[in-house]
Order: sequence, then C-alpha cells, then structure tokens
Amino acid sequence: MKICVIGNGTMGNGIAQTFAQAGYDVLMKGRSEASLSKAMGAIDKRLARMVEKGKMQQADKDACMKHITTSLRYEDCKDYDVVIEAIAEDMPTKLAIFKELDAVCKPDAILATNTSSLSITQVAASTSRPGKVIGMHFFNPVPVMKLVEVIKGQLTEDDVNNKTIELCKAIGKEPVSVNEAPGFVVNRILIPMVNEGVGILADGVASRDEIDAAMKMGANHPMGPLELADLIGLDVCLSIMEVLYTEFGDPKYRPHPLLRKMVRAGELGRKTGKGFYDYSK
Ligand code: 3HC
Repeated sequence: MKICVIGNGTMGNGIAQTFAQAGYDVLMKGRSEASLSKAMGAIDKRLARMVEKGKMQQADKDACMKHITTSLRYEDCKDYDVVIEAIAEDMPTKLAIFKELDAVCKPDAILATNTSSLSITQVAASTSRPGKVIGMHFFNPVPVMKLVEVIKGQLTEDDVNNKTIELCKAIGKEPVSVNEAPGFVVNRILIPMVNEGVGILADGVASRDEIDAAMKMGANHPMGPLELADLIGLDVCLSIMEVLYTEFGDPKYRPHPLLRKMVRAGELGRKTGKGFYDYSK
C-alpha cells in the first residue's frame, strides 16, 4: 500500500515520517521546493537524534529516508492508495485540495483528512466519491503520540472505515473510532481546557507558570495548558474554538479575547518563537 501526504508542515512531515518508519513508501506533496526541503531536513534531524540515542540503526534511518519522495504536483498523487491531507484548517482550502485529488486519484483510493475539527461530511460531499472520504486525526508530535481518531463522516463506507483502522494499527498507532461531530472527542475536551487556561491567566487568578504547574501536578498532564497551546499553535487553538462555537452555537465555546489578541499579534507559540513562552533564545 502506498501513502501520499498532502502538506509538509509539522503534522504533514510527522505523518510522512511515521509511515516511512513503518516501512511504507510515502510521497509528500508540498507547495514549494524550499518548504519540502525544510520538511525533509526536520525528518532527517529527528531520525538522526534517534540514531544518536541508540534507538535506531543508521541503516534503518537511511532506509526510512529512502521511503519518502517529494513532489509539487497533484498529478503525482494518482497511483497512491491512501492520500492524507494535512494542510491549514480552512474549509475553502481543503475543498480546493479535495477537488484536485478527486480529479487525479484512483477511484478506490481512500482520501483522508487530518482536520482537527472541520466536517468530514462537508469535505466528502464536495467530491464525486463521498464514501471514500474519512478523517484521520493525528496528534502532535505525530511520531510520539499513540492516538489516531478515525472519523466516519455521514457518507463514509464501512469498508473504508475498517481499512483505515487497520492501517493505523499497522503503523503502531492506537485508533479510536469516532462519529463525526465538531472537535470529535479529543479537541472538544482539550481545546476548551486550553481556552480556560488562557482565561485564568487573563483574570490574574494565577501566573503562567503556576497554571501550567497546577495542571501538570494536579492532573498529571505532561504539559500545562499554556505550554500545550504553544506546542499546538495558538492560531490552531483559536480556529478549533471558532468551529466549536459556530457549529454548536453555545457560548461555552467562546474563544477567549486574549487568545484572539495573541493570534492577531502573531504570537502563535513555538512556530513563531513566542507564545505564552519565549522560544527565541
Ligand atoms: N517529534 C518527534 N519526537 C519527539 C518530539 C517531536 N516533536 N518531541 C519529543 N519527542 C520524543 C523525544 O525524542 C523522546 O523520545 P525518546 O523517549 O524515544 O527519547 C520523547 O518524545 C519524550 O521527549 P522528551 O523527553 O524530550 O520530553 P517529554 O518527556 O517532556 O515529552 C512530549 C515531550 C511527548 C511532547 C510530552 O510533553 C507530551 O506528551 N506533551 C503533550 C502533547 C499533547 O498533548 N499533544 C496533543 C496536542 S493536541 C493535537 O495535536 C491535536 C490537534 O488537532 C490540535
């Protein structure tokens, strides 16, 4: 089975690496040579660290890198069995990409989206093969996190769902089957928690470090909510809150104004060097 990943950002290159490490041939489709080579560099660096730590043999690293090829063209996705889209959380952009994929991919190819909260059914309905479209929601950092939420849209075929679950198991992930709903399971719980952490900070109830320490020690979370927001990206957190707020129409999902203000300032977390913490040094 051959895998194609659309997108070469943090999630896209993490997904490509994970499949390659499991021995699958992967095509990573990007928008520019520069971003593709940056993504390949990031994968290479992560694998090199594993070799240094004695967790991977050099020969296995070399084999893994050889499993990944790159392209700038949708036409090159045509022979792939499973195509996983991992680009920005923006419905019009996703619909445009699925239109391209629908035009070139094999009729029986599974078209998956790594959306973190958007409607699988809406994406599916824009194609000529809605039964073949499914959600495969990976978590950051992809090579480390065990879970994949496998999200069945209203029109997803059972066979496509079953094959996707088996594929997740084949790469060593733990799939959880979810029916489509805004935010699915994890983000409906996790992102409002992050938003609440932002509100607690804005209210002056506790400092950044105290909020994070409290949740690490009091709830045994590996990261506090503000540290986690910086890892996920504040823009991603905001867009998920917007989806929950709009889709449910419930004020409990209101994005906190401080989250919005920081996104407007470009303080998006690790990826811009500054969020709740400073990563510039
Ligand atoms: N890529 C690959 N591997 C990574 C990594 C990365 N970005 N970051 C850390 N790792 C690896 C390390 O190499 C190390 O591997 P090893 O044990 O084999 O040596 C292992 O992860 C542990 O790393 P560290 O010892 O450096 O650090 P920690 O023990 O603090 O773990 C963490 C780091 C795994 C990121 C941990 O803090 C964690 O689990 N945090 C919570 C992450 C989380 O909640 N993610 C979900 C976000 S929500 C999401 O993605 C959904 C989206 O839709 C918004």
